[in-house]
Order: sequence, then structure tokens, then C-alpha cells
Amino acid sequence: MGTAHSSAHDTESLRPVLEIEGLTHSLGTRELFTDLSLTLRAGESVAVTGSSGSGKSTLLSCVLGLIKPAAGSVKVTGTDIVGLRSGRLAELRARSVGMVFQFGELLPELSPLDNVVLAALLARADRRGARERAQALLDELGVPDAATSEELSGGERQRTAVARALINEPALLLADEPTGALDTETRDRTAELLFDLPRRHACGLLVVTHDPGIAERADRALRLEAGALTLVSSGASA
Ligand SMILES: Nc1ncnc2c1ncn2[C@@H]1O[C@H](COP(=O)(O)OP(=O)(O)O)[C@@H](O)[C@H]1O
Ligand SMILES: [Mg+2]
Repeated sequence: MGTAHSSAHDTESLRPVLEIEGLTHSLGTRELFTDLSLTLRAGESVAVTGSSGSGKSTLLSCVLGLIKPAAGSVKVTGTDIVGLRSGRLAELRARSVGMVFQFGELLPELSPLDNVVLAALLARADRRGARERAQALLDELGVPDAATSEELSGGERQRTAVARALINEPALLLADEPTGALDTETRDRTAELLFDLPRRHACGLLVVTHDPGIAERADRALRLEAGALTLVSSGASA
């Protein structure tokens, strides 16, 4: 058929890694999510924008299983995490989910390499293989060697955080305002790198951000407003 992709690869990249269905959740008297649904597939990126307080971070907390919604299901790689026992939830999170936060939160006294290796060891990876994979990821993401991660620039710290999120080869990568603390140029480079990951690492990427300039780089951009998600744009590659 003359296509560059093998059918095996296509099947793999169509696999849903996150399926949110009928998510309803209230905080006090305010309904934050009303029958909200979202499907994200391997190899695909989705950005969710919304004003401050619209519930973007809370949505990620639901996906991480940190908040139990009033109704609905949240399937991560096919397993509904709503109501999952904490042991199994932690196991699924360690195996299948990577998370990047706004400030690239690292352990400042550890080297970038040890920050990434630690995440692998917490997921019970073999020690030697972990160091090699961590170094390869840091090289791929352009993080320089440093004795402590304190010595890194903001952008380098955020790229280390991305390496840490990827070390266990998660099917689902989550990012909460990943460029919120960076200057414009570093923001653009970090965003470019981030939205390249679904294709390079065959994961699904869900980014929540208040920044429309970041969101427009995703395959699909959605807006969270009044408890529901609406499509803002469907990028060229979608
Ligand atoms: N731990 C909490 N307890 C009570 N209300 C909270 C808590 N965390 C967030 N909120 C409220 O939930 C709403 C959504 O917050 P959040 O998900 O952080 O929004 P966003 O990330 O879009 O700025 C806000 O009105 C916020 O004040
Ligand atoms: Mg937030």
C-alpha cells in the first residue's frame, strides 16, 4: 500500500491508554466535572486548557487515583482505577504512568542521574539496567552531567523531570503546567520536546496548561469549562 508504517505499529499506536467516561465530581456545592469523557491513545497528545480554578489539576488527580470521583470510570491501560485498592493502584501507577509537574520537582541534593534512577528503583527495576537507561534518556533529552540537580537551569531541571517520568516506559504521560515556570524560549524548546514524546516513546501524553501557545502544539486541544471538555482544535497530525 506504500505506507511507511507497519500495521503492527499502527495497531499499537491506536491502543487507548486513558479512557475517562461519565466523570462527575463536585467540590462542596460546585460541580467541577459533569459527565466528562476523554479518550487518549498511544502515540497521541491531548492538551486541556482552562482558566485558573477550572479543575485541570483536579482532573489529573482523578487520573492518578488521588481523588475518587462521585461517578464515572477512569481506565488507565484498560483498568478502571476508580475503586482500585491502594496497593494495586500504586502498582499500576508505577508501571504505566509518568508525571511531570510545573517546577520539575527533583531531589536537589541528588544528581540528575540519581533522580532518574531512583524512580526506576522505586518501580523495582534492576539497578544496573536502570543506570544505563537513565543515562541514555538524559543524553537524548540533552541534560548535562551535574553533581547535584540544584546546579541545573530551569529548563534542564524540567528535562530531567521528563526523563524521570519516562524511565519506566509509561503508557501514559501526564504533565501539569510543565512550562509554567520557564521563560519564553525555554518554554518553546521544552514544549517541542514534550510533544515529540508520544511518537518517540509510543505513549499517550495529556498536558494541562493555561497557556494556549502550548496547547496548540498538541494533536488535539480541548478546553475545560463549566465542567465539560470541548474541542478547540485538532492539529495537522491528528
Ligand atoms: N484540596 C482542595 N480542597 C478544596 N478545594 C480545592 C482543592 N484543590 C483545589 N480546589 C478547588 O478546586 C477548583 C479546581 O482547582 P484546580 O483543579 O487546582 O484548578 P486548575 O488546575 O484548573 O487551576 C478550584 O476552585 C480550587 O479552589
Ligand atoms: Mg492547576
